[in-house]
Amino acid sequence: MRVAITGATGLIGRALTTSLLSDGHTVVRLVRRPPLDGGAPGLEEAEWRAEQGRVDSVALRGTDAVVHLAGAPVVARPWARRRHELVHRSRAHFTRELCRALAGMDHPPPRLLSASGVHYYGRTGSTVAVEGHPPGRGFLSRVCRDWEEATLPAEEAGMSVAHLRTGLVLAREGGLLRTLVPLQRMGLGRRLGPGDQYLTWISLTDQVGAIRFLLERPDLTGPVNLCSPEPVGNAAFCRELGRALGRPALLPIPAALVRATLGGPVEESVLLDLRAHPERLEKAGYSFSFPMVDRALSDILTHPRPSTGA
Ligand SMILES: NC(=O)c1ccc[n+]([C@@H]2O[C@H](COP(=O)([O-])OP(=O)(O)OC[C@H]3O[C@@H](n4cnc5c(N)ncnc54)[C@H](OP(=O)(O)O)[C@@H]3O)[C@@H](O)[C@H]2O)c1
Repeated sequence: MRVAITGATGLIGRALTTSLLSDGHTVVRLVRRPPLDGGAPGLEEAEWRAEQGRVDSVALRGTDAVVHLAGAPVVARPWARRRHELVHRSRAHFTRELCRALAGMDHPPPRLLSASGVHYYGRTGSTVAVEGHPPGRGFLSRVCRDWEEATLPAEEAGMSVAHLRTGLVLAREGGLLRTLVPLQRMGLGRRLGPGDQYLTWISLTDQVGAIRFLLERPDLTGPVNLCSPEPVGNAAFCRELGRALGRPALLPIPAALVRATLGGPVEESVLLDLRAHPERLEKAGYSFSFPMVDRALSDILTHPRPSTGA
């Protein structure tokens, strides 16, 4: 399979690239800088002018699928109006432009998996959000909605498009755990914010596994929740993390400190009270490697992955 990936240098993109290459597939990184020699067998680079939506259509010839993961970081400091705009624009606008460019190719790649987030649903509390659940309110819900709508040109061109509504990805090398693990080692993090909120998560192993599953299943179009079937309460998550580290945390981290440490709309991301369920993935037969958070955390913390820089 020949797979082109935007955002290939990110947490998910690196792991996906490594996984595909190790099974003998070809990966074309769509890069926002002049392309280089891929530097590894099966790895190529092609130019993607995100602002103008231009892609190197010659390099994309014969591509079976595009996995579109690029977007400015949502958790970042300082968090200001300009960053809201960048987060939105780097998803909605860049996605529309990319899809227009793909749609304009003589033979568009047949499959597009486009990133999105479970943040689409906003705060659900204990109500379980499956793929038909309506969008929530708030900035990140709007970003996800506009991001998903932006793939319309690809759909109109006949591409089979799925939206990856992803939960909080758990990995040692990035995301929430990279911040939380050092704090836990200092005895901080018995809970984050109020602690009774649901946390919808997925291990990086399953994130990559589910993307690979969807690459093989072009019949699955539209939104697909990429999250473990066992969301967990925030305080329970922190307790399991302390257990996996052998260092139970004593002190909670108040929401204000989470905000100051991570930056960004934390009430809509790491502190979001959201209980999503991967109904479509389960019905399609995807089998999670890590459905339970205790096993996921102990795997992540005891078996650090080799660098996935490919
Ligand atoms: N990780 C999570 O917990 C999570 C949860 C829900 C949804 N998602 C979504 O899934 C996608 C991939 O997640 P990730 O964790 O791999 O993200 P990531 O580590 O932040 O990587 C995103 C990649 O996007 C590109 N990028 C950075 N700034 C950009 C900008 N201003 N404009 C366009 N592209 C930019 C970069 O790749 P290049 O330099 O190679 O272009 C970067 O490596 C993101 O869109 C993210 O919002 C992630």
